Amino acid sequence: MPDLLVGKNAIVTGAASGIGQAIALAFLREGAKVLGADRNATGLAETAKQADERHAGSTFVSHTCDVTKRTDVEAMVARAVAELGQLDVMAAIAGVALEHDFVDIEDADWRHVIDVNLHGVYLCDQAAARQMVKQGAGGRIINMSSVNGLMGEEELAAYNTSKGGVTLLTKSAAIDLAKHEITVNCLAPGYIRTPLNAEGIADEEWINEYLKRVPFRRVGEAEEVADCAVFLASDLSRYVTGHPLVVDGGQIAVI
Ligand SMILES: NC(=O)c1ccc[n+]([C@@H]2O[C@H](COP(=O)([O-])OP(=O)(O)OC[C@H]3O[C@@H](n4cnc5c(N)ncnc54)[C@H](O)[C@@H]3O)[C@@H](O)[C@H]2O)c1
Repeated sequence: MPDLLVGKNAIVTGAASGIGQAIALAFLREGAKVLGADRNATGLAETAKQADERHAGSTFVSHTCDVTKRTDVEAMVARAVAELGQLDVMAAIAGVALEHDFVDIEDADWRHVIDVNLHGVYLCDQAAARQMVKQGAGGRIINMSSVNGLMGEEELAAYNTSKGGVTLLTKSAAIDLAKHEITVNCLAPGYIRTPLNAEGIADEEWINEYLKRVPFRRVGEAEEVADCAVFLASDLSRYVTGHPLVVDGGQIAVI
């Protein structure tokens, strides 16, 4: 029985789907109690079902919320503390992607991507950090960046900008929170098989061309990102902070 997170309580946003769902399930596998948050209640119910099937006896609390709203995010942290006891880990994973050529981006689309991917992470990190500082027992914050937070990619200006912001938000928060023994790191995945990428993966010609950029010559699986989140949530990473952990089959090693 894996036990890297026994005794830890975690919030995972984006827990209704893809990588967030895989992280919630991996945290449960390792013995954590998890509050899974998402705006998609149906997806959360599916995660709760999988938690029951795979990790009987584990504690998974479903919480519907919009990470772009401060009141929602503060209520999420308050509920985690009320139902789980205290907060040890915040995994801010919820995100969206919209593709446009730069000259065609509409303001509303730009704002939406920045709002969810960057402002939402800021709100989650700050609410978690305030709670962790109050508890006085350190903590772990894990943000979702991307390889697109370390380099550009065509037709993804808003997404790249949001993820670049998350990479620097991570480093900035890590500096300020070190005195409280709170580590702040981010995940920087490459191309991972999730509903977000279903269309790209289904387009055989496109994906084969894309995979020429990836030394492993395959897409990553959500569970492969989730196992890295387990490391960042666990005591194994106690001296790691401000770090973007790249999970990309070698994609950006090529550049
Ligand atoms: N799939 C990839 O290749 C990949 C690569 C790098 C980074 N990422 C990042 O990983 C994260 C998860 O992506 P995924 O591929 O699992 O996508 P996904 O679409 O499967 O999951 C994203 C989840 O975020 C939730 N969400 C979106 N906006 C929200 C909001 N305002 N409030 C609460 N929840 C909200 C959605 O409901 C969904 O459940 C995203 O931040 C994405 O940018 C994904």
